[in-house]
Amino acid sequence: MSVHEQDWWRNAVVYQVYIRSFADGNGDGTGDLAGLRSRLDHLARLGVDAIWINPWYPSPLADGGYDVADYRAINPMFGDTAQAEALIAEAHARDIRVLLDIVPNHHSDEHVWFRQALAAGPGSPERERYLFRDGRGENGELPPNNWESMFGGPAWERVVAPDGTPEQWYLHLFDIRQPDVNWEHPEVRADFEETLRFWFDRGVDGFRVDVANSMVKEPGLPDIVEGVNDAQDGGHPYLDRDGVHDIFRSWRRIGDAYDPPRVFVAEAWVPDPQRLARYLRPDELQTAFSFNFLTAAWLAEDLRDNIDDAIAENTRVGAPATWVLSNHDVCRHPSRLARKPEAGRGWNLDDVIALPADPELGLCRARAATLLMLALPGTAYLYQGEELGLPEVEDIPTDRLDDPTWELSGHTLRGRDGCRVPLPWAAGEPGFGFGPSGTPWLPQPEVFARHAADVQEADPESVLHLYRDALAIRRAHPALGGGALTWQESPEGTLALARTSDSGDGGFTCLVNVSSAPVSLPEDAEVMLSSGPLTARGEVPADTAVWLRH
Ligand code: GLC
Repeated sequence: MSVHEQDWWRNAVVYQVYIRSFADGNGDGTGDLAGLRSRLDHLARLGVDAIWINPWYPSPLADGGYDVADYRAINPMFGDTAQAEALIAEAHARDIRVLLDIVPNHHSDEHVWFRQALAAGPGSPERERYLFRDGRGENGELPPNNWESMFGGPAWERVVAPDGTPEQWYLHLFDIRQPDVNWEHPEVRADFEETLRFWFDRGVDGFRVDVANSMVKEPGLPDIVEGVNDAQDGGHPYLDRDGVHDIFRSWRRIGDAYDPPRVFVAEAWVPDPQRLARYLRPDELQTAFSFNFLTAAWLAEDLRDNIDDAIAENTRVGAPATWVLSNHDVCRHPSRLARKPEAGRGWNLDDVIALPADPELGLCRARAATLLMLALPGTAYLYQGEELGLPEVEDIPTDRLDDPTWELSGHTLRGRDGCRVPLPWAAGEPGFGFGPSGTPWLPQPEVFARHAADVQEADPESVLHLYRDALAIRRAHPALGGGALTWQESPEGTLALARTSDSGDGGFTCLVNVSSAPVSLPEDAEVMLSSGPLTARGEVPADTAVWLRH
């Protein structure tokens, strides 16, 4: 594939780079652009089509960079714009496209507009760019409404004037340091559009759109009342409101004006696949994560139903499905799947941490889940470190936790740091080779030695080799990537899906044994790839997937 192919995004494999934890080039313990550039060959050899880089902009990192202070620059901790341009060129030279992350729901409290808004005071035009309101109660001492922050606690923070007088409140659906912007304001719209063009002009191939379903709020910001307006059916005061679609239509026009057209992937936790598909109408965003697959239980029926629903609804609007098993917000899938099958439905560490875990079983299922995902039609996203089989780090000392969830939940929820631990590149080096020196910004557990890239490289049975083999077959096989899926008859508790290409080429089946007993292979089937060893009798053991040619 070349970087000029227009429809590359319909069946791409995209690798997510959490830049802070990918590779450290300068030895300060934090990942950076130099580190990423030095490891591009790892990604080229893995066989991915694109990378998505989490926010790399100047930021006080109150929420790991999702608190952006300047959308058109690079955080000096990670590098500078010249290095970003070099990275884009070097990735393109390897036929790897580059997607960035745009955070349109909120700014950092260090954004110049927010500073101006605080200084300008109540009623000023500067405050119109955010959602400032007077408080309720006799002296405005109560928040303007009952909305809660996604990280815990109220979604409102009261401003204190320089002389110490408490005054207005501002809305923050996430951290206190992430004030929501006002999407009714024309300057907000224009500024984000300028940001898109700024990066597109520098060769960036697209954007992942952060919390794409929350940008538009109901005028009047009413309380949420159970049973009245708390459903995600268009009537919720800030989730999945119809107004967002108009924003994305204008973004699509901007992306389409480039050659090749630039693309978007929405992060929208919209549970109803039919409503999610509305983001993917032909004049809106091209793709959106199908998170229902990520949160499906490790049970044949649950997996199949969620796959079918995503494909059916997306097909109606002409969009491919977008599969993902792990990212920087969820418990890594080997650790979710190490619990009882239904535990997968809880997507974060705090949902599953108290449940008994079997890490070997989790990894075995994770390898099978990956072969299932990569056999499905559409786009797949991999999260850095999953190609090394990394588990979630569940025991980071609480005084090292960085995710705002820990503070805002009153020290009851550990949050998402367990999937953000710096990658192990070399088992025998300090910090497992994360950087030339320095202590990684989050502590790495001993078990990372087993998962280090050099150890995985040397072992033909490793997760790394499985991912590489799978991506190579996926790239070469005419029935994989785009095209159709047909379910085959298969024993109870198993999934068998056949794939045919748009031109009718077939001969590919993926069989996943989600039951607890081994199953026989279909007759005349030749195993191309298996997520684990078959039994002595040539059967597919429990929690194992195979790719078959016939
Ligand atoms: C998205 C990001 C997450 C961030 C939140 C607020 O869900 O993936 O990491 O905390 O948005 O920007």
